[in-house]
Amino acid sequence: MSDTETAHWIATVPVADLARRRRTRVEVGDRAVALFLVGDRVFALDDVCVHKGRSLARGALWQGRVVCPAHQWAFDPETGRADGRDECQPVHDVRVVDGVVEVSAHPRSQEES
Ligand code: FES
Repeated sequence: MSDTETAHWIATVPVADLARRRRTRVEVGDRAVALFLVGDRVFALDDVCVHKGRSLARGALWQGRVVCPAHQWAFDPETGRADGRDECQPVHDVRVVDGVVEVSAHPRSQEES
């Protein structure tokens, strides 16, 4: 893999740390990102809610959805789409390398999700 292919991946926390609380907030470059562990998969969404800016990492996981603590909007962690609404939370690609969660520095475009 070339340097240009790896440059946008930012190492964050060990998966083992995420397993304890199933959610956490990390810094990825200049963005705050909320990580969630759903089953054995890790998802990354911008932490700042698209509705009114609350921290999704302070929210909950409920029936496979990320639920914002402020007004209970529910987001699909895979696509970022809010249930029953037109809004979409930016999501980031994630990979696990040697037990560490790496997050793409840039969110996926909504066309790709
Ligand atoms: S700030 Fe997230 S639902 Fe309102």
